[in-house]
Order: sequence, then structure tokens, then C-alpha cells
Amino acid sequence: MSHSSDMIAEDIEQYLKSHEHKGLLRFITCGSVDDGKSTLIGRLLFESKLLFEDQLAAIEADSKKYGTQGNEMDFALLVDGLAAEREQGITIDVAYRFFSTNKRKFIVADTPGHEQYTRNMVTGASTTDAAILMVDARYGILTQTRRHSFLMSLIGMRHLVVAINKMDLVDYSKQRFEEIVEEYKVFAKQLGLEEITFIPMSALKGDNVIEHGHHMPWYHGPTLMAYLETVEVDDERLQRNPFRMPVQWVNRPNLDFRGFTGMVSSGTVKPGDAIRVQPSGKSSRVARIYTYDGDLEMAVAGQSITLLLDDEIDISRGDVISGVERPSQTADQFETSLVWMHEQPLLPGRPYLMKLGTQTVSATVTDVKYQVNVNTLEHTAAKQLDLNAIGICTLSLDRAVAFDPYQECQDTGGFILIDRMTNNTVGAGMLHFALRRSQNIHMQHVDIDKQARALSKGQQPAVLWFTGLSGAGKSTIANLVEKKLHAAGQHTYLLDGDNVRHGLNRDLGFTDADRVENIRRVGEMAKIMVDAGLIVLTAFISPFRSERQLARDLMEDGEFIEIFVDTPLDVAEERDPKGLYRKARRGELKNFTGIDSAYEAPESPDLHLRTTEMSSDEAADAIIGLLRERHVIA
Ligand code: ADX
Repeated sequence: MSHSSDMIAEDIEQYLKSHEHKGLLRFITCGSVDDGKSTLIGRLLFESKLLFEDQLAAIEADSKKYGTQGNEMDFALLVDGLAAEREQGITIDVAYRFFSTNKRKFIVADTPGHEQYTRNMVTGASTTDAAILMVDARYGILTQTRRHSFLMSLIGMRHLVVAINKMDLVDYSKQRFEEIVEEYKVFAKQLGLEEITFIPMSALKGDNVIEHGHHMPWYHGPTLMAYLETVEVDDERLQRNPFRMPVQWVNRPNLDFRGFTGMVSSGTVKPGDAIRVQPSGKSSRVARIYTYDGDLEMAVAGQSITLLLDDEIDISRGDVISGVERPSQTADQFETSLVWMHEQPLLPGRPYLMKLGTQTVSATVTDVKYQVNVNTLEHTAAKQLDLNAIGICTLSLDRAVAFDPYQECQDTGGFILIDRMTNNTVGAGMLHFALRRSQNIHMQHVDIDKQARALSKGQQPAVLWFTGLSGAGKSTIANLVEKKLHAAGQHTYLLDGDNVRHGLNRDLGFTDADRVENIRRVGEMAKIMVDAGLIVLTAFISPFRSERQLARDLMEDGEFIEIFVDTPLDVAEERDPKGLYRKARRGELKNFTGIDSAYEAPESPDLHLRTTEMSSDEAADAIIGLLRERHVIA
């Protein structure tokens, strides 16, 4: 085991096995930027004497170089140095630092940004026993302090230390300490945070970290280390909860062996136990609990195992295996708390990838019920969530998943949202409960289906999805194509932006959120028309890739034909058929596409029409040609 201790989850497990006799405390540090987190972690590592001698020497040299004096080594340099090292690694999601004293072992989840904290706290990626909230004594309680406190209350953190740091910079003032404590208590009470310990501290000089020091004789509480060494850890809590194991992979080396591998996220399991698999609802019994070190008589929360079952039932990655008495639930619509972590706001209606346990599904926020102001805890109305906003939202998935309310199990109740275009983690959240409506609405089976309707029309249904700037020529070309199809006896319908916005979408404007909703509705409408057996033409700017992808995903393979009507901005602006570009340039029309609102050109459209190189008629013929090639028409 390396003492610099950048460990990933498997290493930790390995480690735990070899040190099972000593108690373990997992904690995190949070607070605002520059609050001294790195200095504190550096000091804890240093004082617990687990640093390499040469690393120490390097810090001393660096500290001298940067002008810190005497025994005030700059511990932040140490942690930041390790962080830089870590960045060169590839697979590490969250790094853990390990140190120990005679009494306990400690793991501190050392993740660089607020974003990773949130993400890992919420998904239980680092199940934590305690949190240290750092406050700079000079600035007191900041918005970031309140936001992190709110997150603590959301995730149900049981033990919280408010470390009022940099006391050396306020002359170790007892009065300043008490002011901050009072202010924080008022806020924490509203959140229902109960067990809070306040410690005045100087991570830089060392006061009240390991030793009390002599600067604050008025403080009689524990030092941070004394607190960490004695705070009660409820190891058994996870094991009392019902059994859950999200399946990471299906292990089938040969026909005689079929195991389901994963980490037990709560409860215990023994051979002979009756289990249920969600979301399918199938049941069986545990035959064996296999591990590389031999079979187990029992497995508990935190262990990675492979389960062999009595029956040959179909289980895939992402399924959750539960104890049969209290199995997880299944649903496809939820109320959730959602923390938004990206500059690009959350837009209701836009599809994101959702990771819940080992399941990955497509998810859409159907409604932002309200947003929480983290400073005042007021609920405010919101149409979208901006960076760092926390909201209560309803979420709709493309299929049912196994889940538990977050309060009952973090692993099957905490989730992250990922942007489908960039793969960035953009949000993290907690499932509260399934919406009733998702359980009571079932798809109605109808006997006359799409195939039957299409057959009687002698055509293959499809959507011709035109996209391009305003004035690019979408409507003109779509209109020509529809005329040609109609003349050939095909059954068509043209959905046009300007027309739909006078009726169905009269309530929508041109903000990003409204455009997303505009295209979502048009996509659903087109889907119904395709189901009716029609060839549908849609002419909307549809500026965002995400929503064009959403519309594509609504259709079956081959039904969605994306046609990029590519007219350069200067040409469209020159034409300006409705005089809107001129208005936009004069500042009389806000959020105009191409001027002050984005257009994301298709990366690989089914057809790319460069209107400066062809007439509208030629463009229409090119489309008819493609439809023949794709056998949409004969
Ligand atoms: S989309 O972006 O939501 O797909 P849509 O195609 O429905 O837009 O509507 C675009 C039409 O609305 C334009 O052709 C133009 O006539 C009109 N319009 C009015 N305001 C704007 C605006 N701010 N941006 C773009 N188009 C606008």
C-alpha cells in the first residue's frame, strides 16, 4: 500500500480486508474556495506521520521558495501536488486519502471541486460518516457554506463539524467565533441539521487540529482529531437495511457457470435467501455466493460478490437484486431533488442520460416545481435551473427502473444526469418517490397498427425533418417536396414552425427552454402522424442537437430523415424575407437565431443541401431521390 494513498474504490476494499480490526471513519471536507481545505488535509496527513520523507523535503523546499516560514509548512502544496499527479491518471473518478492514528483509520474523499463532491455525495460513491464544513473566520457564512449545508441536509449527513478556520487572521477572537456560531445555528435549525460541532481552528498554525495549542485558551471543546477519533460510526446501519445489489455485470465464462456480479449496497445476503430481480419482478433463490477467495456463508453491504441462483432467470447489467420481503420498487416517473452543476442550464423537456446504480436510461425533467434559494431557503418559481441551483423537479424516464427512495438507500436512490452530446455530468439528484400517474397509465393496445395504416396508403411512413436558420428556405423546399409527393399520390402532412406556433404552441416564445419544448411537442406530434402512416414534413429551425436527437429517438430506425437546409447566415440575413434579421440587428427582437441565440448545425445529416449552390427545385428533387433510395416511396 502506497503511503501517498491515492486509492480508488477497489483499493479501499482491499485495504479494509487487511485491517478489519480497527474502526474506520469516512469523511469529506467542504466549504468555499480558499477556505483552507488543502492545508487541513495536508496537516492531518502530515501529523499522522504517513508522508514520505522525500515529499516532506520537497514541501519544505517549496515553502521556502514561496516564502512561508519556520514550521508553517504550506500543507496545501502537498495536497495540490498530489492532485496534479492524480490528474495524469486516467480512470480515477474520486480519489481517497488515507491516514490513521492509534485509535482509528480515516478515509477522506479528496475531490477537487464542488461538482465532484455533490456528485459523489449524492450517489453514495463515497458513503460518508461525517463532514467537515470549512468556514473562513474573516468572511463567516457565505452562500457556498449555505449551499453545502443544504446539500448535507438533503443527503442526510449525520455528523457535521463546522470548522471555523483561519482564526489566526482574526486574532483568535472568541467573539468572532461566537458570532459565526450563532449565525450558523439559526440557519441550520431551519434545515433540521442537528448534530453539529463547532471548532475554532487554524489549519495553518495547527491550533485545535491535533493539539489545542495556546492561542485559544477560551475554547474547551475537542480538537478536530479528537472529534474524528471518537465520533460514533454506525457501521451496522447499512446492514440492517434490506438487501440490495445492483448488477454490474453478468459473469458467464461457460455454460455451467452463470453469476451476477456487483457490490452489495445495503443489507446482507446468505445462500438459500429468496431474492427478487427488479424491474422484471422475477424471483429465485441464492445458490452460492462466489468470490475469488472462495464461497461465502454471508455477504454484507460494501462487499463485491458474484451471486449464483437456483433458477435460470434472465438478468442483465443494471438490474437490482433485492431480498424478497422488502424488494426495491420500480417506476418511470419520480419527484426528485436536483442539483444543477453546469453552466448550460437544465432545460425541461431536454433528454439527458441518467445513471442510477448500475442502470443507465434516458431521462427528461417534465416540470421544475420550484427552486430553493439556499440563502433564505425560500421556494421560488423557476422554468429552468442554472449553475448551482437546487430544485424540486419531476423526472420522466424512457423505461421503468428499479429504485428506492434516497432516504432508504443511497445507491439505488441517488442519481446523476449526463449531457448526451458532451458526456459531461451536469446534475446530481435524489429520488423522493414514484409519481402515482406512472403506475396507473398503461399503453392501450390497439389492433390496427402503423403497418396496417401505412399499407393501405401504399407507403412507408417517415419524417422529413428540415433544420436550418430562419430564412434558410426550409418551408419553401418542404412545400415543394410535399407538392411533388401529393401529385404522386402519397399521403403527407407539413408541420411548419410559423403555423404550429399560432396554434398548438401559441404559449411558447424563443427562450432556449421554450424552443426545447416547441421541438419536443413537434416531435411527439410527428410521431403520432407517422403512426397514422403519413409521410410528415417538419420545417422548424430546431437549433439544438439534443432535441433533434430526441425527435430521432422517438421514431423507429430509418423513419427519421434529417435534412440540413444550409444557408450561411449572411445569405439568410441578406434575403430577410420577414424583415426579422433587421429587427434583431436593431435590438428590437431578442434571442434571434444566428444573432444572439445559437444554431447547432447537424454533424451528420441524412441530406445536406447547400442552398447557395442549387435552386429550391433541385433541392426538392434531391430529397425525392433520397426517399426512393430509402424505399420510403416507390
Ligand atoms: S425553433 O427555434 O423553436 O425551432 P421555429 O422554427 O418554431 O423556431 O420558429 C421560427 C420562426 O419564428 C422564424 O422563421 C421566424 O419567422 C419566427 N421568429 C420570431 N422570433 C424569432 C426568434 N427570436 N428567433 C428565431 N425565429 C423567430
